[in-house]
Amino acid sequence: MPVLSHTPLDVPVRPRNREYDVAQALATDWFDQHAFKTAWFNAMSITFPLGEKFFIDSVRYYLDRIDDPKLKADIRGFCGQEGFHRREHQRYNETLCKARGYDLDRMEARLESNIKRAYRFLSPLERLAATAALEHITAIMAESALNENDPMIDSAPAAMRALWQWHAAEELEHKSVAFDVYRAVGGSERLRKRAMRQATFFLMVDVMMGVLHMLRKDRKLWNLRLWAQGWSFLFAKHVGILRRVWSAYKEYYRNGFHPWHRDTRPLLAGWQDNEDKRLLA
Ligand SMILES: [Fe+2]
Ligand SMILES: [Fe+2]
Repeated sequence: MPVLSHTPLDVPVRPRNREYDVAQALATDWFDQHAFKTAWFNAMSITFPLGEKFFIDSVRYYLDRIDDPKLKADIRGFCGQEGFHRREHQRYNETLCKARGYDLDRMEARLESNIKRAYRFLSPLERLAATAALEHITAIMAESALNENDPMIDSAPAAMRALWQWHAAEELEHKSVAFDVYRAVGGSERLRKRAMRQATFFLMVDVMMGVLHMLRKDRKLWNLRLWAQGWSFLFAKHVGILRRVWSAYKEYYRNGFHPWHRDTRPLLAGWQDNEDKRLLA
């Protein structure tokens, strides 16, 4: 039986049932005391509970067609990890919106209608391709978040950083699960790349709509200085959080690309070390 899982043997996809007390931080501009930077991360969080349910469903759809026991185990681990992420970010989102007067139903309604459209117009394989693409984006953002130069390290309260880094580490552990399933069921390179172009567009629009909603409620929507700083935060040379992941993002369009061509095990080991220390403290 061919081995279809490319997750390294020393990287178990193991769900960790973690809870983080971030209520206090969420009532503030917790990222660098900056409204745009905070809204950007909060808007990403808004997309997770529904987005990650879509990922779980897209991958689980193919579980019965996979014979490789290792990949089957990876799929179970993936669903478990994304399940805990959903729960933590749901709590995060509800606490955030209550504390700051944001309209969670309205933001989620947009996402729901996008997902409904995906079910209506995309085949299961196309939804899996979209999932693999979004998982690559998540993984390269995660890579950046676990890097020692990540701006969040000096700019966020400890519990908030711990939550985002836990999520980031598990995203790295399961970064090729959807991808390996996509390959195992015969997904083409052409569809894979097309899905990435579409997924990038929808994700960026969704996050930006969340940012707009939050800044409008904060009465900072027309603060141009804030937007200029936000632009640098995303795109400035060397430091912009999207600029930093650009070359890793582009790799997805290379024929024969696989997520584990980027060996991110040292980052995972570094996180695990810090985590052990944090839990002992
Ligand atoms: Fe996740
Ligand atoms: Fe994920």
